[in-house]
Amino acid sequence: MNNQDKIMIEKETTDKIEIKTKNGLNDQEQEVKMDNISDLDKPTEGLGDKWPEPIIRVQSLAESNLATLPDRFIKPPSQRPNETITINHQSEGAAINIPVIDLSSILSGNQEEKERVSEACREFGFFQVINHGVRPELMAGAREAWRSFFHLPVEAKEDYSNSPSTYEGYGSRLGVEKGALLDWNDYYFLNFLPLVLKDLNKWPSLPSNIREVVDEYARELVKLGERLMRILSSNLGVNEEQLQEAFGGEDFGACMRVNYYPKCPRPELALGLSPHSDPGGITILLPDDQVAGLQVRHGDTWITVNALPNAFVVNLGDQMQILSNSIYKSSEHRVVVNSQKERVSLAFFYNPKSDIPIQPLEQLVSSTNPPLYPPMSYDQYRLFIRTHGPRGKSYVESHVSLVNG
Ligand code: OGA
Ligand code: NI
Repeated sequence: MNNQDKIMIEKETTDKIEIKTKNGLNDQEQEVKMDNISDLDKPTEGLGDKWPEPIIRVQSLAESNLATLPDRFIKPPSQRPNETITINHQSEGAAINIPVIDLSSILSGNQEEKERVSEACREFGFFQVINHGVRPELMAGAREAWRSFFHLPVEAKEDYSNSPSTYEGYGSRLGVEKGALLDWNDYYFLNFLPLVLKDLNKWPSLPSNIREVVDEYARELVKLGERLMRILSSNLGVNEEQLQEAFGGEDFGACMRVNYYPKCPRPELALGLSPHSDPGGITILLPDDQVAGLQVRHGDTWITVNALPNAFVVNLGDQMQILSNSIYKSSEHRVVVNSQKERVSLAFFYNPKSDIPIQPLEQLVSSTNPPLYPPMSYDQYRLFIRTHGPRGKSYVESHVSLVNG
């Protein structure tokens, strides 16, 4: 029985069991999982400066008009997009969608709208925001500047190629496992906060307006992140500033990954991004305005996100699940690709300070409601993800099982 079958059979279960089934592992896989956990005890020094094997730029593959895909990009049948239950295909219209939240209405005191955010965080860990205060021209400007960057010839981008120690720059794979299956995307990763990590030399210099636009975009998204943090905090029944304080107050982190998904000749065999949950705090995603691709897992189905014009798609990362003692869910998501259109998305990550312990807020735990996660810094946490690459929610969930024996 493969994992997909297990998930389907056991879907009518309580939350707690569902968490287990999502990662329902056989004995052999369980062994691998325990190995992974022991990696966490290793010191958090860098991963080294070299990728384990030569880097394949997906853009180059896409431009070489292949009839099929190199083996490394072909997912096993059970993980292929059409082998899993998917609803809300583009052609079917937005029958089911993740909740849409009007942020301006919350800021002017609409309690009901705020309640809807609370529900979305508990149920999906995903929602989209409109009337969020970021100018549409700035959003489009940032996305199109990055699109132009990715349209440069591969050679022009190699000057910025990244390494696994920081991920900063132009990259084409996540995780350093030799021989790992690869996803159909190239990306660019850069840091904004803390300021000591902001290094303009690692930012692209073309197109000519890109640094200026990205800088303004990041400043606006930090403000949006701060607003969301206050809402999420008060929706947990704690002080508005509590979550931000747990993030290290003013010393929080912010970074961005711009994803470029070229057209794929065999989209039914590949994924743009394998199932994963984001390791950090809050992700604010600017999706492509022309093409869908992001899918959110809800029980045993994948829901395609149909973003409204000028909306941001917000999702909670693992640190939010930990701080809220699992009241909020970090959600598993993936990206599918297509043969007709490329796709560009900007994922902005609002994260805790990287070296302070993150654990469930003390107001949310009691003798009857014990903490589900041990304290761990975001640096330690992220090292695991960066070593192994995207892997569902195995990491945050493995902690539930660790504490629960
Ligand atoms: C990510 C991510 C989704 C997308 O970058 O972590 O999930 O639509 N991106 O590109
Ligand atoms: Ni993600």
